[in-house]
Amino acid sequence: MIVCSCAVVSDHDIELALLELMIAEDAPLPTPGVVWRHLAKKMNCCGCAPLAVAKIYEKLEALEAKGLVCPCACANAKDAKSRVQKRNQTSARSSSKAEANYA
Ligand code: FES
Repeated sequence: MIVCSCAVVSDHDIELALLELMIAEDAPLPTPGVVWRHLAKKMNCCGCAPLAVAKIYEKLEALEAKGLVCPCACANAKDAKSRVQKRNQTSARSSSKAEANYA
């Protein structure tokens, strides 16, 4: 399945990149930018970013379940993802309140 049509990145490409990235002792947070850079690709429109994030974490969990990547590296990535989601939710709530107060 093609995830990014601009850079022609498939879910299989993402899986292979994660295998290489996540075996490092200091594995990075596997953001789409990190994965695309590892694949020597560059995002253009970024329209695929939400799908890319979903596929990255889907593949990461599958690799963890198969025992192919360290659960600690996966836990660090999931923690970071959850912190970002909470921050985004808080930010969205603040924006909604600000808009409500302005109206
Ligand atoms: S679809 Fe991925 S950068 Fe445009």
